[in-house]
Amino acid sequence: MKRIDDWPTLEEAARKAAAGAYCPYSGFRVGAALLTDDGRIMTGCNIENASYGATICAERVALAAALAAGVRNFMALVIAAGERTPAPPCGICRQMLAEFAAPEFPIRSVTLTPGDAPAAEYTLGELLPHAFELRE
Ligand code: THU
Repeated sequence: MKRIDDWPTLEEAARKAAAGAYCPYSGFRVGAALLTDDGRIMTGCNIENASYGATICAERVALAAALAAGVRNFMALVIAAGERTPAPPCGICRQMLAEFAAPEFPIRSVTLTPGDAPAAEYTLGELLPHAFELRE
């Protein structure tokens, strides 16, 4: 998969990733699938902790896995979560994505079961205008 019009493949990868979620506290499974510029799909799931603030979102797990593998350029992100309403990425994940993706970067959110609700479509710039940048 190299073209970002192949959303179904990315959606399937995000839903599959959600199955790996470690979420005993919220019970809210999240999967994320990032399409890299060389056509790979890197996935992540949410990983919770008894010290709740140590929880990591699925999007940041996917991003960290990709970054650790040397990837720096991304084409698209799909998030899979929830039963009735697609979940947009949280603020921390938006900021972390903004380090590596342009405002036009496309993000889709889908529910865990295909067909339960239409996908929500965003760009990173819509979700996080005025992202923080470290400037002197
Ligand atoms: N969560 C994500 O994985 N991604 C988000 O963008 C928002 C929230 C997770 C964190 C926690 O495990 C659960 O959803 C409930 O907040």
